[in-house]
Amino acid sequence: MWKGRFQQNTAETVQQFSQSISFDWRLYPFDIQGSIAHAAALKRAGLLSGEELELIRGGLESIKKEIDDGTFTFRPELEDIHMNVESALTAKVGPTGAKLHTARSRNDQVALDLRLYLRHETDEVRGRIRGLQKALVDFAGRNREVIVPGYTHLQRAQPVLLAHHILAYVEMFERDMQRFADAKKRLNQMPLGSGAIAGSTIELDRQYVADLLGFPGITHNSMDAVSDRDFVAEILFAIALTGVHLSRLSEDLILFASAEFHFIQISDAYTTGSSLMPQKKNPDICELTRGKTGRLIGNLVTMLTILKGLPMTYNRDLQEDKEVLFDSIDQVKAVLEVYRGMIPEIAVDARQMREAAQDPGLLATDLADYLVRKNVPFRRAHEIIGKLFALSQQQSRGFSQMTLEELRHFAPEFGPEVFDMLRLERAIESRTAIGAPSPKNVAAELEAWNAILQNEP
Ligand code: ARG
Repeated sequence: MWKGRFQQNTAETVQQFSQSISFDWRLYPFDIQGSIAHAAALKRAGLLSGEELELIRGGLESIKKEIDDGTFTFRPELEDIHMNVESALTAKVGPTGAKLHTARSRNDQVALDLRLYLRHETDEVRGRIRGLQKALVDFAGRNREVIVPGYTHLQRAQPVLLAHHILAYVEMFERDMQRFADAKKRLNQMPLGSGAIAGSTIELDRQYVADLLGFPGITHNSMDAVSDRDFVAEILFAIALTGVHLSRLSEDLILFASAEFHFIQISDAYTTGSSLMPQKKNPDICELTRGKTGRLIGNLVTMLTILKGLPMTYNRDLQEDKEVLFDSIDQVKAVLEVYRGMIPEIAVDARQMREAAQDPGLLATDLADYLVRKNVPFRRAHEIIGKLFALSQQQSRGFSQMTLEELRHFAPEFGPEVFDMLRLERAIESRTAIGAPSPKNVAAELEAWNAILQNEP
């Protein structure tokens, strides 16, 4: 359609090569929503009569219904969703349909559609992050007394509460929540009226369109508005980082589920067997999540790479934004959903965790702190406990199995109350600073999270 200056149809290979309808069809509810608002602005400017507006609105709504119902025929030769909808409209309502594209270009149209789409999807993703946070807080609450070694360099470091470890992820996901909300502020700007590049000689009331579509602001530079995909890159980054957090969680679960750790078991419903080895129970969900995160990062890099060489303003390269964006949105939603279901299906072996946490090395720092309170300078205390630990390793005896005399041999400051220091509960209870994992602190954190997660969707 609309051949104009062209005398030939585009070659079939070119149609196949350049079409985007096979993936951008999913923008249809937003494309139609935007077109209805645009038609209303045309009416307001006196370019459509009331009857014409109603004709267009009715036509667009019935096209939406056909696509919803799966009875609409998409035509690849019409390239994209915008032209498919417009052509179907004209076929349906006649010449009035051909007035719709007045003072509009696909350049500002696609910018609008993407912003409407992402405004919707950021809320979807945020809702799913909330769901996972709830699952994690519940899981932490159910295991609030469980003590586990905390690791640095994947070496046992200091005892912590398992709930503290889990709540670390809840914090990460909270920052992700904020990042999506923040990115949404910038993408929630109305670009229609920017035209192909320089607006239009036919002036429409852009503020009116923004109000109809519920945008709190409008874009202020037509050239920027038609070529800006920063908001896509920002969302892809927010998704990639959420993926990184999910991937780290996956790695922890994979390690904890191994026979070497034996800290957790993931239920049959969320693990898979091996086609060869009958004994296997594999944490595939976690592994797939770790793998998909590579893809999410790749999608971000793709988008940035597309943008980096573009001269002003719109270039067709920008059509390549959609597949990576849709893929990242789909993948992160799927991962969040399956994780929300999996977390409650994790059984904790509290005894095994405690046993690992009994490793005397984990209390070495506490012993050094004890000496510091006896006025030993920290560096000297560090050295003393280091030597003591070497002996304990050599003789396979924990600190608490040594006598006071033996300890005093290393530092005369040791007193009988040191043995109380060596109780695991006591060691955890004394970690009272804000942000540290004393049971009191962790209980308060759990309560605070429960309040936050209850109040907000
Ligand atoms: N399918 C195009 C895209 O996704 C729509 C805009 C096309 N504009 C143009 N002037 N060819 O970017």
